[in-house]
Amino acid sequence: MSNTTSNPVVDIHTHMYPPSYISLLSNRTSVPYIHQPSDPKADPRLIILDSDDDPSRPKSSRGRPVDSTYSSFNKKREFMKVHGITCSVISLANPWLDFLEPESALRTAVGINDDLERACSENNASAEYSDLKLYAFGSLPLSAPAKDIVSEIQRLKTLPHVKGVIMGTTGLGKGLDDPALDDIYAALSSTKTIVFLHPHYGLPAEAFGGPSVVARYGHVLPLAMGFPLETTIAVSRMYLAGVFDRHPKLEFLLAHSGGTLPFLAGRIESCVAHEREFIANGGQTQGPQRSIWDVLHSNLYLDAVIYGQPGLKAALEAAGSVDRIMFGTDHPFFPPLGDEEGAKWLSVESNKGVIGDSFPNDEEARRKVLGGNAVRVLGLDL
Ligand code: URA
Ligand code: ZN
Repeated sequence: MSNTTSNPVVDIHTHMYPPSYISLLSNRTSVPYIHQPSDPKADPRLIILDSDDDPSRPKSSRGRPVDSTYSSFNKKREFMKVHGITCSVISLANPWLDFLEPESALRTAVGINDDLERACSENNASAEYSDLKLYAFGSLPLSAPAKDIVSEIQRLKTLPHVKGVIMGTTGLGKGLDDPALDDIYAALSSTKTIVFLHPHYGLPAEAFGGPSVVARYGHVLPLAMGFPLETTIAVSRMYLAGVFDRHPKLEFLLAHSGGTLPFLAGRIESCVAHEREFIANGGQTQGPQRSIWDVLHSNLYLDAVIYGQPGLKAALEAAGSVDRIMFGTDHPFFPPLGDEEGAKWLSVESNKGVIGDSFPNDEEARRKVLGGNAVRVLGLDL
């Protein structure tokens, strides 16, 4: 794996909770929040998923420990060095700013986006870190009035280190097929702002057999299945509502290799063709005008955070080109269970291994997925 600027390794799926966001969560007592156990030596607990906040457990064992890897830029750089990553495009982790009161959302978004811009700018100007570059995806104040969201999209375009935005699946509260999002989609299109679409809410516990079943297996069901299905449903609703017909230039980067969209796209296409409700088939409802494959090939990018060859192959096949797939790590989530300092992370190594094994004789394809595509699509200056 090369570590040079001619062969950069770019991590487009890497999160942080900057210190200002940590203090925001630490001042809350309902999900999402950070709980500080009474034992000063214990790590604070991050309780961000509804399934984390199990009242039958003491708060000190709910959720997951949140140590400095979540908020420290030095820890991010250490992680990059250990894994041969030359550039990270940092995004705020879930649940972003979704829970903010409308009055404070814009101010908080501006503060956090400016924190990320400043940290990237200082890093990239420093001779000490000349082989480690940082860029960011901004966050939108989605609970604020639409005009504030649009103004932040336009402002982010003026920040040199912000290369797109990260967003969850709820939009303004009613999902990504909400017609009220049209002004936001228009602003994203006209500013050529790519959206990194990332899950957070998963599926209701009932989908897995109820809260006690979810709790029995920790984070496995919500993260392995709830997350990807949430992404799949969100982007399918956008497609069915004709968002990509009305905004043909909109660009979305889907997390976790597009949830299950690559695997299910043919089934979606077939169900649309057989749905009597749609005007094209004789019904009353406007259905999507474009084929889902066309949308996959021209509006969607997929990350390679899928940890298995069949998943990556499905993503490549559905994206129609190796040019639309980008490497990511999901750092600082999925850390090793042991506490060996400086060790490589299983989650990262298995993911990288899958990329290597998928193109055993195609150095150029590996180079594109590991970094070349991100440099081109996001316009990174390395
Ligand atoms: N768990 C989360 O809550 N977020 C991620 O991005 C990955 C794992
Ligand atoms: Zn993630």
